[in-house]
Amino acid sequence: MIETAFNRTIVFANRKGGCGKTTVAVNVSHGLCLLGRRVLLLDLDPQAHATLSLGIAPVDVDRHVGHMLEADADLSDIIMETGIPGLSVAPSARELMAFELSRAAHPGAETRLAERLSGRLTGYDYLIIDPPPTVGILTVSALVAASSVYIPMPMHFLAMEGLAEMTRLIYTVNANWNAGLRMRGVIPTFFNPNTRLARRISGEIRSLFGPDHLLPGIRMNVSLAEAPGHGRTVLDHAPKSAGAEDFATLARRIDSDTEDRAALARRIDADAEDRAALGRSIDAGTIDGEAP
Ligand SMILES: Nc1ncnc2c1ncn2[C@@H]1O[C@H](COP(=O)(O)OP(=O)(O)O)[C@@H](O)[C@H]1O
Ligand SMILES: [Mg+2]
Repeated sequence: MIETAFNRTIVFANRKGGCGKTTVAVNVSHGLCLLGRRVLLLDLDPQAHATLSLGIAPVDVDRHVGHMLEADADLSDIIMETGIPGLSVAPSARELMAFELSRAAHPGAETRLAERLSGRLTGYDYLIIDPPPTVGILTVSALVAASSVYIPMPMHFLAMEGLAEMTRLIYTVNANWNAGLRMRGVIPTFFNPNTRLARRISGEIRSLFGPDHLLPGIRMNVSLAEAPGHGRTVLDHAPKSAGAEDFATLARRIDSDTEDRAALARRIDADAEDRAALGRSIDAGTIDGEAP
């Protein structure tokens, strides 16, 4: 099996704004780089918060994801390097909103991002996509292009309703465009493990999706809110903070889960190859297929 970033494409999605998606996308990306991975962070939100959080100002962005989607530029034309070794960005810009507005009614718009990325991700271990806080064509495009989706959410009752809606959206994407997309889990954000509410909601997620689908939480931490203002990740800005600690833990967990799945897929492929080789030997008469 050839492993490309294509089957390591992760989306952090939630239809709600302010639930920590961009913070998770940016800091998990940096966390993966610190583990030696090469990561492309694709900013799919017209607000360009991920781009800004990495210190890239709108004036510095010449060509962006909107150009790539409209086929005015190739992925390689829009990629920008960050100060972080191993981390590249496909930047967004406000103009990306035009795609959401004008393309929504066009047939095939949902698969456009996946098509524009296909075959162009060699050289990366992960593609991380940061979609906008809406359930429009951009978020659907991200899910169509992805192999894994994680849902960052605060542990509140109202967030559970959003989770149900996201789960339905994932089924719709599975049924129509991308059967391979999997919901890998919920990432508790603004997490305070000491409250009864957080414990109760965590328990509910464990019983609904299974214990392995509750990822390590990201505690409320002021360094996380400060870092984007300096154009830096928390791992750069405040490496000793609780936020940096939580993201190092989360990145390690996401990476090891991804590695475990890749190892399993390789084993399944190798077993299938062994069986095929045995079949060929029996056909060729070099091995007696009859029971002794
Ligand atoms: N765990 C946290 N602790 C403190 N502030 C946070 C935390 N996670 C996110 N923030 C801040 O909350 C705001 C919304 O987070 P953001 O990641 O932009 O959400 P979204 O992308 O879902 O809209 C940002 O100002 C961010 O810096
Ligand atoms: Mg965001």
